[in-house]
Amino acid sequence: MDEHNDGGAEAFEKLTSLLDYPMFVVMTAAGDHRSGCLVGFTSQTSIHPARFLVGLSRKNHTFGVAADADHLAVHLLPRTELDLVRLFGEKTGDTTDKFTQCAWHPGPRGMPILDAAAGWFVGRVLRRFDVGDHVGHLLEPVAGSAPENLGDLITFSDVRDLEPGHEA
Ligand SMILES: Cc1cc2nc3c(=O)[nH]c(=O)nc-3n(C[C@H](O)[C@H](O)[C@H](O)COP(=O)(O)O)c2cc1C
Repeated sequence: MDEHNDGGAEAFEKLTSLLDYPMFVVMTAAGDHRSGCLVGFTSQTSIHPARFLVGLSRKNHTFGVAADADHLAVHLLPRTELDLVRLFGEKTGDTTDKFTQCAWHPGPRGMPILDAAAGWFVGRVLRRFDVGDHVGHLLEPVAGSAPENLGDLITFSDVRDLEPGHEA
């Protein structure tokens, strides 16, 4: 055990593997380019003003398109949409056009919106900053759609065994 962390890294890894949090499909567009991937590293960070943080891996196709984009579209998916979520978590836009394999429509600020979403919002990217092997994208929600009830959503325990299209 590393005397400087007293097993903190191991405990943290175990705890985070046991947590069950909602998963999101995050999509974006810049010019003629569209991209999207499955994302677990997110958090609301403020109420007034409303703020939400999305962590994107530098290795993902989505990260490259997001670098040229002003907005991200953040979707929650019903548990019935595991095939769709698998597409966005296991395939990479480097080699697969995921947008020909799912139903979506153009939404606010030019963002692609998944037809199957249980709820979604579009956020303007206020800041990007290093958070480790991911880059934090701080969002200001500017549009969205929320039902009365979200129902059963896809959460980490549903997708923890997927093979990501890119290593983190
Ligand atoms: C359970 C799980 C959680 C993931 N969480 C994130 C995440 O928080 N951020 C991220 O950038 N990628 C995350 N990924 C990885 C991407 O969804 C995956 O590598 C995807 O294929 C990348 O697609 P792209 O190259 O088209 O962007 C996750 C994948 C899985 C299976």
